[in-house]
Amino acid sequence: MRNKGVCVYPGSFDPVTLGHIDLIERASKLFPELVVAVLNNPDKHNLFTVEKRMEMLQKACSHLPNVKIDSFDGLLVHYMRSIQAEIVLRGLRAVTDFENEFQMAQVNRQIAPEIETLFLMTSPDYAYISSSAVRQVAAFGGDIATLVPQCIIQDVYQAYH
Ligand code: PNS
Repeated sequence: MRNKGVCVYPGSFDPVTLGHIDLIERASKLFPELVVAVLNNPDKHNLFTVEKRMEMLQKACSHLPNVKIDSFDGLLVHYMRSIQAEIVLRGLRAVTDFENEFQMAQVNRQIAPEIETLFLMTSPDYAYISSSAVRQVAAFGGDIATLVPQCIIQDVYQAYH
């Protein structure tokens, strides 16, 4: 049984940024249900645990009733199949994102042809934001108010201080 109304937006979200939220808000208007899926990858050194990343997403998306926060391990396409979802959403900020995204989408298509990847362009206001930039600015005590949702600012600073 396929779940055509569900779109999955996967990522590391370490931490969620205003760019992610822009994409989530826009996608939540395009699909009946949007699942934001946090990759739980023990090999990758993340600043925040998967639980903390999900908690921050939950707070930042609390105004969006059709957005659900989840996590997954291993291959994205296996997770997609486990919840019978067939649409993956990814954001493109600039051409520099394209090569990596193109490769991921093609690999996913090779191993799971029923799954489609859709791309939304990040709004120009947020095109320069990345989670790694947020971590760097916060690590040195810089102002992250224009980079992450207001409700998670303290969570991010607490990781460092
Ligand atoms: O926010 P990110 O780090 O750019 O997200 C990348 C993510 C989590 C979407 C990607 O690394 C992923 O799907 N990882 C799971 C492993 C997988 O399915 N790999 C196959 C595609 S190459």
